[in-house]
Amino acid sequence: MSPATRARWEAAFKKISGGLIRGHVSGAETIAQLDALRVNLLGRKSALTALLKGLKDLSIEDRRRLGPRAQALKAELEDLIARRRRELESAADEASLERLDLDLSLPAAVPARGRLHPLTQTLQEMAGILSLMGFSWAEGPHLETERYNFEALNIPKHHAARDLQDTFYLADVGLLLRTHTSPVQIRSMESARPPLRVICPGRVFRHEAVDAAHCAVFHQIEGLAVDKGISFADLKGTIQAFLQRLFGADTKTRFRPSYFPFTEPSAEVDVRCIICGGSGCPACKRSGWIEIMGAGMVHPNVFRAVDYDPQTWSGFAFGMGVERVAILRLGVPDIRLFYENDLRFLRQFDESIV
Ligand code: DAH
Repeated sequence: MSPATRARWEAAFKKISGGLIRGHVSGAETIAQLDALRVNLLGRKSALTALLKGLKDLSIEDRRRLGPRAQALKAELEDLIARRRRELESAADEASLERLDLDLSLPAAVPARGRLHPLTQTLQEMAGILSLMGFSWAEGPHLETERYNFEALNIPKHHAARDLQDTFYLADVGLLLRTHTSPVQIRSMESARPPLRVICPGRVFRHEAVDAAHCAVFHQIEGLAVDKGISFADLKGTIQAFLQRLFGADTKTRFRPSYFPFTEPSAEVDVRCIICGGSGCPACKRSGWIEIMGAGMVHPNVFRAVDYDPQTWSGFAFGMGVERVAILRLGVPDIRLFYENDLRFLRQFDESIV
């Protein structure tokens, strides 16, 4: 390429890169001005763009030498413009804050944050373990019929559990407040075919004198598994695994023979006292053991009530109180504390188990 072309290019470059344009950029007073300037300096019709295009008319050596200078100038201008843009924008922000009369130095108003009730936390943790073991969640109504709460569960007419002393009856409508979560067993079996594995958590109601250990309203979780060939060993293994997840891997469990109308054989399950470790304390009444649930093999009459053939199907069931577990795990001395809604009490369990 002729030296004349190069000389013209260098002269043009000098003109653009000479001091004035930087001053223009930092002198732009508004974003609109800056935008116009950007088009002028870097746009398709700008002198700088023409200069970059003009590189192709130079010799290879000249291009190598001069090209980077033109690129560097372009980058510098872009950077200057971006910086000025940020300055103008933050000045605009500040001006609009001033117009709003906002005081950003005021301390923040911290919103009251909700938390799960300790009983909800406990119930969710218990149900969570069982759901990992393959049980799915089922719910039933609080208002039940005698059939679901008693009859289908093989609890005969004269049984003490049906006593007015224990059960809240709604005489006018022929319903009652369920006294346990076991009726949900019946509802689950009626609405599905075996095999079946469900847990039924929820509120239950008993006509009971309220004291440190008893409330008229409390919570239970019921469990039910029905399949071919389910044995008492399956019940034991399931309960043991569950209690060890709940109370710790070295938890000892004990099955004592017992009686429930809806299971045969029936057992009550104890855990080695988690307060004293078995040496005896007020919590375990010096026995070293704490009763935690009732359980057993589903009674054939219960299967008959839902039209499952007891020759084909077998199953186990268990039921336990949620308050009981919460009291033990959280070290709460009186069940009534759960229902008084005193925030000083509730706030202690913010993150204790979830
Ligand atoms: N329904 C019983 C109660 O409220 C608890 C219970 C015991 C449930 C044994 C069961 C079971 O499913 O097999 O005291």
